[in-house]
Amino acid sequence: MASILIIVGTESGNAQMCADHLADNLPALGHEVEVLAEADAGSVDLGAHEVVLVCTSTHGDGELPDNLMPLAGRLRGEGLDLSHLRYGVIALGDQTYKATFCKAGKDIDALFAACGARRLGERLEIDACTQPLPDEEALNWAQEWVMML
Ligand SMILES: Cc1cc2nc3c(=O)[nH]c(=O)nc-3n(C[C@H](O)[C@H](O)[C@H](O)COP(=O)(O)O)c2cc1C
Repeated sequence: MASILIIVGTESGNAQMCADHLADNLPALGHEVEVLAEADAGSVDLGAHEVVLVCTSTHGDGELPDNLMPLAGRLRGEGLDLSHLRYGVIALGDQTYKATFCKAGKDIDALFAACGARRLGERLEIDACTQPLPDEEALNWAQEWVMML
């Protein structure tokens, strides 16, 4: 059994909906899930967690949602050693934003990796253009992802 912390980056609630759906369903597979409150993402103690799932949309011109900006700043600037941490990324985006499709998820992925964290599996990229049920796609992916824990 793993204890999974889900860090949500959202502007209009889709990523939160995905995270909540995982929190409702992954415990049945034997995992503990905590969804971090949006406002707490910047102050999360990553040293106290071994498994993190980042679930984030992209906004603006390929930017992180506002609530993830402080965390990204810490990952860039504090020289954190996250070599104890395994993580996954669920990136929500829209393919009509061609050059910046899911860029926030890609950027946060790169930041965790640069701090020494080890990604499990491939990043999931959910396209709002073609996927009307992002929470279902996230759960289907997460059911496979937790097998790697
Ligand atoms: C103003 C605006 C800008 C966006 N910019 C991007 C973008 O650059 N790249 C991308 O892949 N998706 C972009 N999106 C699409 C969102 O990431 C997508 O709709 C996502 O499902 C929103 O999730 P949220 O409700 O959790 O914020 C943008 C959406 C809006 C409204």
